[in-house]
Amino acid sequence: MALINLRSLGVTLGAPLFSNLNLSIGPGDRLGIVAANGRGKSTLLRAISGSFEPTAGDITRSRGLRVGYVEQDVPAKLLDATLYDAVLQALPPEQAESESWRVDVALGELDVPDELRQRPLSKLSGGWQRLALLARVWVAEPDMLLLDEPTNHLDLARISQLEDWLNALPRDVPLVVCSHDRAFLDGVTNRTLFLRPENSQVFPLPYSRAREALDEIDASEARRFEKDMKTAQQLRRQAAKLNNIGINSGSDLLVVKTKQLKERADRLEDAARPAHQERSAGTIKLANRGTHAKALVALDDAPVTTPDGTLLFRTGKLWIRQGDRVVLLGRNGAGKTRLVNMLRRAIAQPDTSVDGIKATPSLVLGYGDQGLSDLADKDTPLGVLTRRFELGEQRARTLLAGAGMTIDMQSNLVGRLSGGQKARLGMLVLRLTNPNFYLLDEPTNHLDIDGQETLEAELLKHEASCLLVSHDRSFVRAVGNRFWQIEKRRLVEVEGPEGFFADVARNG
Ligand SMILES: Nc1ncnc2c1ncn2[C@@H]1O[C@H](COP(=O)(O)OP(=O)(O)OP(=O)(O)O)[C@@H](O)[C@H]1O
Ligand SMILES: [Mg+2]
Repeated sequence: MALINLRSLGVTLGAPLFSNLNLSIGPGDRLGIVAANGRGKSTLLRAISGSFEPTAGDITRSRGLRVGYVEQDVPAKLLDATLYDAVLQALPPEQAESESWRVDVALGELDVPDELRQRPLSKLSGGWQRLALLARVWVAEPDMLLLDEPTNHLDLARISQLEDWLNALPRDVPLVVCSHDRAFLDGVTNRTLFLRPENSQVFPLPYSRAREALDEIDASEARRFEKDMKTAQQLRRQAAKLNNIGINSGSDLLVVKTKQLKERADRLEDAARPAHQERSAGTIKLANRGTHAKALVALDDAPVTTPDGTLLFRTGKLWIRQGDRVVLLGRNGAGKTRLVNMLRRAIAQPDTSVDGIKATPSLVLGYGDQGLSDLADKDTPLGVLTRRFELGEQRARTLLAGAGMTIDMQSNLVGRLSGGQKARLGMLVLRLTNPNFYLLDEPTNHLDIDGQETLEAELLKHEASCLLVSHDRSFVRAVGNRFWQIEKRRLVEVEGPEGFFADVARNG
């Protein structure tokens, strides 16, 4: 029995995002929703959850259905609450008073360490913030789960933990999940919806196999289109020939026949639909101004500590040279972001050595943080560019259009952009900074597959020097040429990332 039915559902926001979508979701369904950035995945989840009114069609829910919805971003109003309180607030008031043990059970199931539970969400890593949102939803015992990009910000161990947790849920709790993480989708879904402006396709298969089936359908439609167009052309040629003969011989029959052939060609052409063409969600480009300095950053056994001064690890003596693409490997809480912040400070004050870190004075930093927090939701994309850089409006608009932003979006609020659109705006800001050293903290979060691959290619093409933190295995493998691993309170250079990946997979 279906719990939710979508009938002829459509949403138009400026352009049609999707239309005529028919889908029912019932017990046992583990549905993955796949589409490029900005194509309406989050909008569809909002509609299913009841918080967004679709433009067309309707949604019916079985009576009393409780839908648990985990949004793509942390709602700002929650940031000041402690992790524990954020979850407690999700219970109805009377239950919050008498059954607060439910919070402990939910946090226990997700392995949230005790010492983090009383910390405000704003002081927690992106990964713990996401798990807090999940706990908030889970504590209210939903009949159905909607998860929007749940693996963003999670490290490898937590992604596989989340997979296990989802796979251990009672089978009658359906799951609907949007994600760009292919391995994760394969691990948790059994149905896949490819969301498209017209003719969205659903397959009773997990992502990879569904993708093959979709490619087959697209290819056969492309072949049919080509064949129909060719037949129409042939009919027109025959018609032209008959027409000539008809004129010369004065035969009425041939004139009628000519007309019929032309009409058949018209009908074929009118009915033929080109196969679906995937558009890019916008280009990503980087720049590299270069520098004459060889060693960009020198680490002289710098101590990396927690905010209260507890030593996490020492860096030993290490250098970052031009053309190095250093990947920093380490578990959650090992101190990766702490080191990134120390590097930022050292680059901002090149005259002094900050806690054993010395940066070359000619460094121009391109910094991209996990939360894209330097892009204010209340600003507009056009405002961001024209205020920060010396650009005329025309040039700014051209750049924004290239990054996938329509005229409307350029002057609308940043907060209304989809996650991936915001990430692309962040990349454009980085490029205009024209840096010679990049510090990137989880740069692939929110980016669709096309965007992830373009970012990889750009970093390699410009021979950008960078230090990056990423949980995305294929990105790390493709981009890194040096690997620094935090282990046993030391930062050590290792040959490659595989040892670390295997260790995480083995020990969680
Ligand atoms: N309130 C709004 N007003 C106008 N446009 C909006 C609004 N909310 C979303 N949009 C636009 O609707 C489109 C779909 O957004 P949505 O967030 O659903 O995309 P998405 O598929 O989830 O993308 P991503 O992969 O980047 O998360 C985007 O172009 C977005 O800019
Ligand atoms: Mg989204």
